[in-house]
Amino acid sequence: MKRSLFAPALAALALACGPSGPDTVDPGTIPFDPKRPTPGGAAEVAPYSGTNADVLTAQQTYPTGLELHRKLVMRTCSGTNGVCHNQKEYPDLHTPGTFTASIGAPCNVQSGNAEGVFDRCERLGDRFRFAEQSFREIEIGYFKLILGETPEFGTGQGPDDETPGLHLYLHDAVPVTQARLNATGTFIRTFVNEQGNVQTLPFASYETNWWVLGDKKHLFARVSDNQRDTVEGLVASGIVQGDQNRNGVYGARILGNTVPLINPGKPEQSYLVARLRGYMERETAPGTRETVPGTRMPLANQPPNVPDMLALMCFIEGLDPAATQWNLGSAIDYNKCSYKENPSALSLAGTGDSWTGRVLPILQSNCGGCHGGTNPQAGLDFLTGTAEEIRQRLLKPSSQKPTVQLVLPGSLDKSYLFLKLTGDSSISGVRMPINPLNGNAALPDAELKSIENWIFLAGASGT
Ligand code: HEC
Repeated sequence: MKRSLFAPALAALALACGPSGPDTVDPGTIPFDPKRPTPGGAAEVAPYSGTNADVLTAQQTYPTGLELHRKLVMRTCSGTNGVCHNQKEYPDLHTPGTFTASIGAPCNVQSGNAEGVFDRCERLGDRFRFAEQSFREIEIGYFKLILGETPEFGTGQGPDDETPGLHLYLHDAVPVTQARLNATGTFIRTFVNEQGNVQTLPFASYETNWWVLGDKKHLFARVSDNQRDTVEGLVASGIVQGDQNRNGVYGARILGNTVPLINPGKPEQSYLVARLRGYMERETAPGTRETVPGTRMPLANQPPNVPDMLALMCFIEGLDPAATQWNLGSAIDYNKCSYKENPSALSLAGTGDSWTGRVLPILQSNCGGCHGGTNPQAGLDFLTGTAEEIRQRLLKPSSQKPTVQLVLPGSLDKSYLFLKLTGDSSISGVRMPINPLNGNAALPDAELKSIENWIFLAGASGT
């Protein structure tokens, strides 16, 4: 019975294969190899041969990039729809596919505010020239579109920095003699085409009245009512700004400066890692650090622990920079990973019980997402300033309970910060740290203990 459907076709196949084939074939014997091919890299690597507990935990918890995505990235960054890095937020990290797409992808593409952009995320800007003029295209630093109708100017009058209209700030002065001209501004992009050749493409243009202001690096374009759609379309076309954070540094012009979200082979030079740490190692001067602007990640839930960080670093280190596709299913090679020698150095929460070595890193990695940046919650900022400035701030009265200091050396029950961390009944507001994702508001015991030791035993000293 069971052969009746297959036998004729297989018999025909056997015939076609030549006279030496069998004249009947049992479909149950069709050779089938259940092992699937593993595209794009080693699926199996030699397991870690040492005894370090953190490495063993990391290897067991995160054998492959897929687990890293599912257990660490999903938990820390993209768990709840609409809260964090999901479809709406750049980078979108919520599926293995989008996580893989962040390998080599630019960072700070969608930064809410200009100051939040890290110089090393800046890309080569688009360029600008007037179609009627023959000067070389000039890189665009940044632009501002100020809404509203550009006013008519009387003699001797002209636009300033705040005049409604389109403002372009360029890297070099425009070599024209007129202070004002009617011209077609052309926006040009350079890209590498499918054949690998560099091409330039004028992708937008805008004909209007232009003013050449100040040092001739600032152009102003009139936007009248009937031009509004054109200009909004131009802005929506996504002009790449070479100095997106407007600080005068053109990040991409500095050789080797530009970093992607995940830099294959280079965990220290990966923006994602830098946002967890709050700093990025300088590639040209290892051991020195650049502060990364923007809120410390993760915003409000428990930051990665040592095995978590180790897995992330080893995963990135193991990505082949020469590849164009990566397979998250490949095993993370802990045995080859350079971080296996001293994983505890990766701790975001530091070591020991000292202020700079442990307590400050705990506060910054657990609380900096809310207590830092441009609008620190409850006016309490753990990120801005030197370690000593931050410590001095804690020796002042609490804003919620001005009769109590945030930290009173040697006294736990008179240290409001500590009471907030233990959820003492005397506090206003809620226990810290707030975790909007799961409502769980408690530091791990070991971190709480370190803060306790620092206040009680070490007298909240600065060393
Ligand atoms: C999700 C955001 C968030 C996180 C994370 C967070 N806080 Fe807060 N914090 C707040 C808000 C909001 C307030 C004010 C409302 C309240 O106290 O309930 C506050 C108030 C405080 C206050 C009172 C300040 C004063 O001067 O009276 C302290 C102390 C504090 N937080 C400490 C911490 C510490 C320490 C951590 C990390 C272990 C932390 N917070 C993590 C949002 C946060």
